[in-house]
Amino acid sequence: MSTIHPVPAEWAARAYVDAAGYAEKYRRSIEEPEAFWREETARLDWIKPWTRLSKSSFDEADFGIEWFSDGTLNVAANCLDRHLAERGDTVAILWEGDDPSQQRRITYRELHEEVCRFANTLRRLGAKKGERVTIYLPMIPEAAVAMLACARIGAIHSVVFGGFSPEALAGRIQDCDSKIVVTADGGMRGGKTVPLKANVDEALNHCTSVNAVLVVRHVGSSVTLAEGRDHWWHEERAVASADCPAEEMSAEDPLFILYTSGSTGKPKGVLHTTGGYLTWAAMTHHYVFDYRPGEVYWCAADVGWVTGHSYVVYGPLVNGATQVMFEGVPNYPDHSRFWQIVDRYQVNIFYGAPTALRALMREGDEWVKKTDRSSLRLLGSVGEPINPEAWEWYWRVVGDERCPIVDTWWQTETGACMMTPLPGAHALKPGAAAFPMFGVVPQLVDGDGAVLEGATEGNLCITQSWPGQMRTVWGDHERFFQTYFTTYRGKYFTGDGCKRDADGYYWITGRVDDVINVSGHRMGTAEVESALVAHAKVAEAAVVGMPHEIKGQGIYAYVTLNAGEAESDEIRKELVQWVRREIGPIATPDVIHFAPALPKTRSGKIMRRILRKIAENDTSNLGDTSTLADPGVVDTLIATRG
Ligand code: WTA
Repeated sequence: MSTIHPVPAEWAARAYVDAAGYAEKYRRSIEEPEAFWREETARLDWIKPWTRLSKSSFDEADFGIEWFSDGTLNVAANCLDRHLAERGDTVAILWEGDDPSQQRRITYRELHEEVCRFANTLRRLGAKKGERVTIYLPMIPEAAVAMLACARIGAIHSVVFGGFSPEALAGRIQDCDSKIVVTADGGMRGGKTVPLKANVDEALNHCTSVNAVLVVRHVGSSVTLAEGRDHWWHEERAVASADCPAEEMSAEDPLFILYTSGSTGKPKGVLHTTGGYLTWAAMTHHYVFDYRPGEVYWCAADVGWVTGHSYVVYGPLVNGATQVMFEGVPNYPDHSRFWQIVDRYQVNIFYGAPTALRALMREGDEWVKKTDRSSLRLLGSVGEPINPEAWEWYWRVVGDERCPIVDTWWQTETGACMMTPLPGAHALKPGAAAFPMFGVVPQLVDGDGAVLEGATEGNLCITQSWPGQMRTVWGDHERFFQTYFTTYRGKYFTGDGCKRDADGYYWITGRVDDVINVSGHRMGTAEVESALVAHAKVAEAAVVGMPHEIKGQGIYAYVTLNAGEAESDEIRKELVQWVRREIGPIATPDVIHFAPALPKTRSGKIMRRILRKIAENDTSNLGDTSTLADPGVVDTLIATRG
């Protein structure tokens, strides 16, 4: 589809940057970085201003990433304290529970006080600067409070999405050696309770490092508290002081670890630091959403993902925004829920994921149309490529052809948004992530690393560092270098494929590595495979992505059972349950295809390209199969595809 939506004059007039403004700022960000970043970092309150801009290199000899490294600041003080004088009584969080009758309003002053009490409690439980605190909470204000409390005392938070299983949680606690876990009795999603505390108890059977668990009472379900280890937050809160000076942190001190999936091995602990990350979150939130004081902003992501870190917690709060935080799901109690919330809080800016839009689109326009939505003025999309059909629906039905859509491409590794159209600057092309953010230099290369110019398609690299870039993989700096900087020497390789059209617009085409994107959640095929082979009846497994109408991609698993095990629907169900238990419901395989054998090369390498084709039901052209050890295996798989 080649529709183009030009920038209406009123957007250009009201936005922070118009087309000329974008061009000029982009030029300065590359040609005069010192002056450009001096201005952008002035969004923050620094305790000690920086003098060293950046010392970053993607080359092996002097590899390292550093920004503003001699400056000092505190992230929580930037998100809270500095707003108190002018907007202490402004609402920071408009919380709505899964149950629509549950609502809370929290001002910046109240949030500041909560964070101070929480920080003092963490300290009392033994948290210190540089130590890790694992946070396993539902979408409740305490999630933001806990994160900011860590930032206040310099502890490093590691948020684990509440949908991950006890096993997955245990692995993440162990990897970063957390001594403290923050959780809740439970969370609510779509009317069902998620037993978070019980999951923590199970996880802690494997983790001896943890000596304190802080439990937020939320759903009121009964939980067991281990004597001496577990503490209720409401009891601690009652005795904690509301005075907690913020720790002076160096710009390069770690702020958080967030685990994410890659093409190989266990999930990696992506590490972000303080000054560069916060500058990047603040700057992108400002320009991309064009946020103005007084407006209501809503990012529907969970804090368990990077979008929730940068665009629920840090970006909006550092900019003093008023935002909606929502615990529930888009289709509960009914398919209007999102738009009812928009009307209730008069939301101006809404940021969501294509998977939710596709699911809602299927239910018909009436659910949207019966709501007013006239408060909306800007829409955003994130997490996966948005197909033009969903884009047009978002534009026409949700936004009433009035609201620009910012399709923001970025990654856990990039900290915050890297490419997007800006609302007052760029004509919109449905499905295009459009243009780079300030300071971002994208490059497309072919499989051999040769740089591709002009209108083309290739692998997306970024050639120079930006302030929000991840600094390392927790505990494994070598893996950081190997994963991102060796495929194409001297460049950061994103793992994404990308097209550039004749107008210079970038279009992300999806992952080109063994990562799949299920409902906007990143999943390593290797992770699902290792969960499957951990099952006693499984000899071998290979997992690939398959197209899925709602989820974008689904999980297609080829499984070879041990000799003597008969294939049956029972085993199929058992394996699905097993993967949910090992990783979590987001990793639920959509298809289990029993394979007597997997297609391999003579050297024993599984030919995933062929498995992908079969999963996509596109078997007319399997490409080169001459290296297959046994071509008969492929015929069997095609014949047994359901
Ligand atoms: C994909 C989420 C197309 C991409 C912020 C990337 C997108 C991965 C977009 C990162 C978009 C994210 N258009 N693809 N607007 N946004 N992606 O780490 O494949 O959970 O590499 O970060 O999601 O997922 P992650």
